[in-house]
Amino acid sequence: MAERSRERPVSPFGPPVTVALTGASGAQYGLRLIEALVAADREVWVMISKAAHLVIATETDVELPARPERLAEALVARSGARPGQIRCFGREDWMAPVASGSGAPSSMVICPCSTGTLSAVATGASNNLIERAADVALKERRQLVLVLRETPLSAIHLEHMLNLTRLGAVVLPAAPGFYHQPSTIDDLVDFIVARILNQLGIEHRLMPRWGEP
Ligand SMILES: Cc1cc2nc3c(=O)[nH]c(=O)nc-3n(C[C@H](O)[C@H](O)[C@H](O)COP(=O)(O)O)c2cc1C
Repeated sequence: MAERSRERPVSPFGPPVTVALTGASGAQYGLRLIEALVAADREVWVMISKAAHLVIATETDVELPARPERLAEALVARSGARPGQIRCFGREDWMAPVASGSGAPSSMVICPCSTGTLSAVATGASNNLIERAADVALKERRQLVLVLRETPLSAIHLEHMLNLTRLGAVVLPAAPGFYHQPSTIDDLVDFIVARILNQLGIEHRLMPRWGEP
C-alpha cells in the first residue's frame, strides 16, 4: 500500500495573514488590506462576520456572498489574487487552521474591529471563528492587530483596549491623519492600511513613511 505523505504542501506565497472583517464602520479598510496583502504576495485567510456583510452592503458597492467558497471566488476576482492565494472560513468552521495554535498564521488583523468583537476578544469568549482565532493568537503570543472604529469610547471599550494592549495585542484605531494632505477617501483608507502593513513588517508604497521625501 502506498504511504500517504504527511508533509504540508509548500505554498508559493509568503506566510499567511489572517484578516477578519467585523461589523464596525470602515469595511473599506479591510477590503483594501486584503488587496494590499495580495499585492505583497502574501497568502490571505479571510473571515467576514454577519454584521460585517451588512456593513459592506451599506457602505460599498461590493457584493460578497456569504458562503466561504463563493466568498473566496469573489475576493479573488476583485483583488487579482492568484489561485489559492485567498482562503475563506465560515463563522463556525472549527476545523479551520486558524482555530488552533498548530495551524494559525503568525499574524492576525481584525479590520475593522467592532466594539462587540473587541469585548469578545478581551474576555476570551471564542463564540465564533473570528473570536476563537484571536484567542488563539493571544494564547500563542502571536501578532494580533485590532483596527477599532467607534467614537466616542466608553470606559468598557477603553478597559478592553488597555487589557488587550497589556497582553501584547496592538490596538490601531481607524483614525487617519491628515498631514499627507489627502484628497480622496482612498488616501484616507490607505493611511490606515499603510499603518497596518507597517505593523506586519510588510513593505508597501501606499504612502511615504514619516521623514521620507
Ligand atoms: C452600518 C453599520 C455600522 C456600524 N458601525 C459600527 C461601528 O463603527 N463600530 C462598532 O463597534 N459597531 C458598529 N456597528 C454595530 C455592530 O455591527 C454590531 O455591534 C455587531 O453586533 C457587531 O458584530 P461582529 O463584531 O460580530 O461583527 C454597526 C452596524 C451597522 C449595521
